[in-house]
Amino acid sequence: MKKTVKKIQKYKSENKKITALTAYDFYTAKYLDIAGIDLILVGDSAANVILGYDSTTRITVDEMLIFTSAVSRGAKEALIVADMPFMSYNVSIEQALCNAGKFIAKGADAVKIEGGSGYIIELVKRLTESGIPVLAHLGFTPQYINTIGGNFIQGKDFDTALKILEAAKSLERAGAFGIVLELMPKEASKFISENISMPTIGIGAGNGCDGQILVVNDLIGKFDEFSPKFARKYFDSKAMITDCAAKYINDVRTGAFPSEEESFKLSDEELKKLENYKQS
Ligand code: KIV
Repeated sequence: MKKTVKKIQKYKSENKKITALTAYDFYTAKYLDIAGIDLILVGDSAANVILGYDSTTRITVDEMLIFTSAVSRGAKEALIVADMPFMSYNVSIEQALCNAGKFIAKGADAVKIEGGSGYIIELVKRLTESGIPVLAHLGFTPQYINTIGGNFIQGKDFDTALKILEAAKSLERAGAFGIVLELMPKEASKFISENISMPTIGIGAGNGCDGQILVVNDLIGKFDEFSPKFARKYFDSKAMITDCAAKYINDVRTGAFPSEEESFKLSDEELKKLENYKQS
């Protein structure tokens, strides 16, 4: 059955952890759905792990729309959240509504936006009023990397944790259905989770959140540029792909591939014609 925003929100009162992963293509989305994942984020992390850019700030709306559309065709039950890329919602409310509408048209059930400024709070209100559910994102916000200055842990003391809590409360009042908390001390994210009603989904934020999200390429070992300590690797896809490719290269070079069984054959009658042609 389709997982809705309301269902995901109910998990918090039921003390049931929300499970979330990113996906960018049809088959990964399909397989995550089969596994029973609650929420799939079409993350702008696609910039790094799919397109090979050096920052999430490089990816465009048009690129993200292609991934969103593929994921929405692949997953039938998970809630699909599209990450709005850098500067696709910061120019004006009108620009943001227009771009968010494109993601919903491609099959997303909700959008994610980063930050907690007055403008973002107003935007969450307008999106929600327009029928577009919003997943907020605080703590470390990668789209602000150039102003933050690096991948720094956020909310490292009481005052900054309280500031994040206050921003989270404002986002909640504006209508956000949930919030991603990234790169925070576990006690700070637990404190925030316990003091807001909407569910928190942590990444690098310890086990006190109402759910967890990871980048699927980290989960399956298909990204080797950097590996944050919170990104548990369940499989080594890099080794699997390089090993399979090396075996294939060897089989082609030695003539072991393709085999008789892997080849189509002419009928004896047609084969004879070929042979006769060669003789004449
Ligand atoms: O783009 C992304 O993958 C994200 C997650 C890390 C939450 O925003």
